[in-house]
Amino acid sequence: MKLKLALSLILASASAASAAAGPIVVHRDPGCGCCAQWAAQVRKQFGREVTIIDDRQRSSFQRTQGVPGNVSSCHTAIVDGIVFEGHVPIADMKRVLAQKPRGVRGLAVAGMPMGSPGMEVPGQRGQAFDVIAFGSTGQRVFAHHGG
Ligand code: CU
Ligand code: CU
Repeated sequence: MKLKLALSLILASASAASAAAGPIVVHRDPGCGCCAQWAAQVRKQFGREVTIIDDRQRSSFQRTQGVPGNVSSCHTAIVDGIVFEGHVPIADMKRVLAQKPRGVRGLAVAGMPMGSPGMEVPGQRGQAFDVIAFGSTGQRVFAHHGG
């Protein structure tokens, strides 16, 4: 009985700590290479540990995280409680994390646009793409890149 209580206290404090500045967790489609490229940039620019999970049930993870189907991409990351779907530029991640706009659950870049972070092809011009904010207030364009 005593042991059980101690264990639940440990678990509670561990989850409180991870909400503050624990590792950044990235769920990706198993084996996806561009996810690792994006994750490497996140690791470097946030200076934080990044854990990549090969997730065969990622679509159900997306659903539980509230990612709308129309902005789906190859990976879903959680940073300090905010959801990032796809190849979201790091500057936009930092901006939403600083502002924590009301009604915004996360940011998404639909598909895998050429030239987005992790999708750079040397010598090729990037595509234009939008970063979409989603959440209880619906969807809106958070940032526009390229084009
Ligand atoms: Cu990708
Ligand atoms: Cu990816």
